[in-house]
Amino acid sequence: MDKIIIQGGAPLNGEVTISGAKNAALPALSACLLTGGWHTLDNIPQLRDIWTIREILSNLGVVFEEHGQTLKVNSDNLNNHSAPYQLVKTMRASILALGPLLSRLGKARISLPGGCAIGARPIDLHLKGLSLLGADIRLEHGYVVASTNKLRGADIFFDISTVTGTENLMMAAVKAEGKTVLHNAAEEPEVVDLANMLNKMGARIKGAGTDTITITGVKELYPARYAIIPDRIEAGTFLTAAAITKGKVRIKGCSVDYIGAIIKKLLDSGMEIEEEGEALVAIGRDKIKPVDIKTMPFPGFPTDMQAQFMALMCIADGLSIIKETVFENRFMHVSELRRMGADIEISGGQALVRGKKNLSGAQVMATDLRASASLVLAGLAAEGQTEISRVYHLDRGYQGLDLKLSLLGSKIWREKY
Ligand code: EPZ
Repeated sequence: MDKIIIQGGAPLNGEVTISGAKNAALPALSACLLTGGWHTLDNIPQLRDIWTIREILSNLGVVFEEHGQTLKVNSDNLNNHSAPYQLVKTMRASILALGPLLSRLGKARISLPGGCAIGARPIDLHLKGLSLLGADIRLEHGYVVASTNKLRGADIFFDISTVTGTENLMMAAVKAEGKTVLHNAAEEPEVVDLANMLNKMGARIKGAGTDTITITGVKELYPARYAIIPDRIEAGTFLTAAAITKGKVRIKGCSVDYIGAIIKKLLDSGMEIEEEGEALVAIGRDKIKPVDIKTMPFPGFPTDMQAQFMALMCIADGLSIIKETVFENRFMHVSELRRMGADIEISGGQALVRGKKNLSGAQVMATDLRASASLVLAGLAAEGQTEISRVYHLDRGYQGLDLKLSLLGSKIWREKY
């Protein structure tokens, strides 16, 4: 296994380009199940989760041709409709194969994803919506066994805004007979990106990016070429890295439209962020002001940035309150940050962070993807050396984060252990 070692204290300086978004690439790859022919996806990031979904899709009969960040995908010879536990348990987003397989084959057998470090992660809203579209859904021996003769459009209301739930049902509905309306749908940019790709494939989807999405079923879909959006969470992570190291970083390839809440809160903390053409220039300041945040579905402050922002607040000049409203257990990074000297108290779904002058390097352990990023950021600022183990969590969702940081001047490297 790899560990990452960081010699803290170096201010970042230079330019970085953001990779394609993991949470747009995963549904885009799943959408290739909807119709045969060669799909071409551009700006696909090289990530562990992308390898995992490729393995799951290959297991169904999908073939790939890789050309750098461009991936060609062909599902002409789908010869299986089952996604096994040993693959699905490593990545919950595998559930995104359910809707497309039901649409294409009329059947699917997907292992229940189970929970993960940050929460129980139920899929009841996915299943309820698919039933309303006319699927027969059974839970057998830890698997979702779904089948249908025909999917018919329906009016579906999500009790909770769910990103992959919205994506799964959008994909299931594109060839259903008649009209489907998704109410209280997720508004995340990755949902919009999937709708744009599906429309390029011949689907008729309106309202993506709002809480009401209308899908009018079509008879045929066609393979398409589509470039997925940049990763807004990676962009937010680099903005925060500039702040926590009091450095200056030029960030290319991210759209300010997707990161409004992140920018607002970072500006409140005292850093400077300026648009320079297609890029953002982020400048960290000596004084970091405490800022309260509350995670919410888009366009609110994203839960996927909560751990990273907490690392910054650990060296702010005062008390900040961080409320996590999306997942019930997304404070796993707190105990590790405390090992680095952070003063954090948790009560209910919120963390009280009392900023200190600095953190001190320590041996810490990554527990989940965004917790890993939080520990990297803390290590960049800490006095002395930080060693982060189990960095396979980090590699699930960041393409070469340590390499990109070292190119920006941080003293960071990997070692086997
Ligand atoms: C997506 O997960 C992202 N993953 C997550 O990113 C992200 O944190 C999350 O959305 C919230 O923005 C991908 O897109 C692959 P949800 P998802 O369904 O879709 C509850 C990362 O770090 N819920 O929007 O699984 C659920 O428990 C990952 O990149 C139900 O109760 O999240 C949670 O409390 C982590 N029943 C809330 O909704 C359901 O059927 C939001 O979850 C579905 C969800």
